[in-house]
Amino acid sequence: MADPIALLTDLLAPAFDAVRDAGTAAAGLDPAEVPAPPTVRRSDRTDFQADGAMALGKRLGRNPRDVAAEILEAVDLTGVARDVEVAGPGFLNVTLEATFLADLAGETWADERLGLEPDAASQRLVIDYSAPNVAKEMHVGHLRSTVIGDALARIHRRLGHEVVPENHVGDWGTPFGMLIEHLVDVGEDAAVAELSVGDLNRFYQDARASFDASDGFKERARERVVRLQAGDAETVRLWRVLVDQSAAYFQVVYDRLGVLLTPDDIVGESFYNDALPGVVDDLRALGLLTLDDGAECVFPPGFTGRDGSPQPMIVRNRNGGYGYAATDLATIRHRVDDTRADRILYVVGAPQRDHLAMVFAVARMAGWLPDGVTAEHVQFGNVLGADGKMFKTRSGASVRLVDLLDEAVARAEAAISERNPDLVGDERAAVARAVGIGAVKYADLASDRVKDYVFDFDRMLAFEGSTGPYLQYAHARIRSIFRRGEVDPAALDGGALVVGEPQERALVLALLGFPAAVRHAAETSHPHRLCGYLFDLAQTFTSFYEACPVLRADDEATRAGRLVLCDLTARTLSAGLDLLGIEAPERM
Ligand code: ARG
Repeated sequence: MADPIALLTDLLAPAFDAVRDAGTAAAGLDPAEVPAPPTVRRSDRTDFQADGAMALGKRLGRNPRDVAAEILEAVDLTGVARDVEVAGPGFLNVTLEATFLADLAGETWADERLGLEPDAASQRLVIDYSAPNVAKEMHVGHLRSTVIGDALARIHRRLGHEVVPENHVGDWGTPFGMLIEHLVDVGEDAAVAELSVGDLNRFYQDARASFDASDGFKERARERVVRLQAGDAETVRLWRVLVDQSAAYFQVVYDRLGVLLTPDDIVGESFYNDALPGVVDDLRALGLLTLDDGAECVFPPGFTGRDGSPQPMIVRNRNGGYGYAATDLATIRHRVDDTRADRILYVVGAPQRDHLAMVFAVARMAGWLPDGVTAEHVQFGNVLGADGKMFKTRSGASVRLVDLLDEAVARAEAAISERNPDLVGDERAAVARAVGIGAVKYADLASDRVKDYVFDFDRMLAFEGSTGPYLQYAHARIRSIFRRGEVDPAALDGGALVVGEPQERALVLALLGFPAAVRHAAETSHPHRLCGYLFDLAQTFTSFYEACPVLRADDEATRAGRLVLCDLTARTLSAGLDLLGIEAPERM
């Protein structure tokens, strides 16, 4: 185990327990009721700080500093810590032995997983992400869901969990009447040609225009929906043309983005059609349905509208139609009963917060979401333009994702040609793709997802600051050390690593923080924590590299040790970027 936080926690726990046991015995308390786990974290003042004595002191009615001092007496950190002291209101400040740090870092270097061990209990996670709508262009909101969901999928897989990605595409509902009639009007071949090049906005808008302009069309659209719902063979075939063309186009975008989604991950809304009557019947049998103005609704406790009146979740409207909510109830049942998920993450924009909260509440009431299974809304804010308003083109249309990606890659290519004229041809094109796409993804992932962020090409493509290009460049620059020195990293020896200079110590501590950073991102579903970690690591490396010559180190032993540090940094940056779905080119 090379994660010093986990290691220190294990080493400190028996001392915390011993002091707790003595204290509860003296106070006549049940020790089982007084948990006393140490919480260890990195600290700016020292290497690590252990917390827990304060809470324990409070429970025992004793001065926390005295409790901390007793723990300090009881703990044996010989060979591990150079110094342990009580600080502040009752923290334990731990300074590690340089040799111990060097050993840990050497072990980490020799470990393919970089010290990141799988979680003890493997879970099955359904991650609901991307979810664009058929015959509608993917917009920046879908970019967010796609990029964040994909990073979470990679992170959880890396922690040993079984991830089931589900792309809940919007492939059902009343607009399909209009879309199918439009398909018939323009002719199948023309429609396919339009859709296959990804001109989804045009198709949808033209359909909408016909619908708005003509009562005859409106009537046809309405009849078409009825036939679609009745399973009329020709109508279903036409519907499938729309679905298949859109899915093929989505896949083009996914491949371009470098996300893991495949056509097999699509489990669209239509998949749940047959289960919808059962949802309503079962809710009725459970006594949860209320007839409200002709609609069948559930009123989960605690949900109120603006005026304070109870808020209904409509499962079946007055015309007998099932909507988005009914589908989501069928979906959650399927994820629990058939997919057997332990945890379900919905990577969906913040505006759907109430909707999902109600779905989860109703599913719990109905017993479809049992206690052992968690459902979480991994919500995210909007993407804004430079003007601070929703990101739109000058004409006010929503921005096509592919156009954004094209522009990012073109800008990256221009920047790279300027910085490194030696990089040419296919390699330059590949690096430009990695940098351009990486910049867009990183900008999205690096901001706290709950907040809005401003889409700004100049900022996301900058080689300074917390950006994709900065981290990719930091990685490539380390790799260039090995090229210049003609050193094969595989021929290094982890045992050569020495922790002497303060910058070496800082770098080792940063490197050893990788497992905790990944875990933290996983637990909170906050990829920006991992971005922040990688940015710190890259900066810490820069300080190290400025202070500590590597290829020109004073002696062979120092050089060998620092090369190990360089290689470990490059591998950690590359592994971290990979968990975010971002490539790390060898040169830039
Ligand atoms: N298709 C929906 C949209 O574009 C998102 C679906 C999210 N997933 C879900 N289970 N409701 O807004």
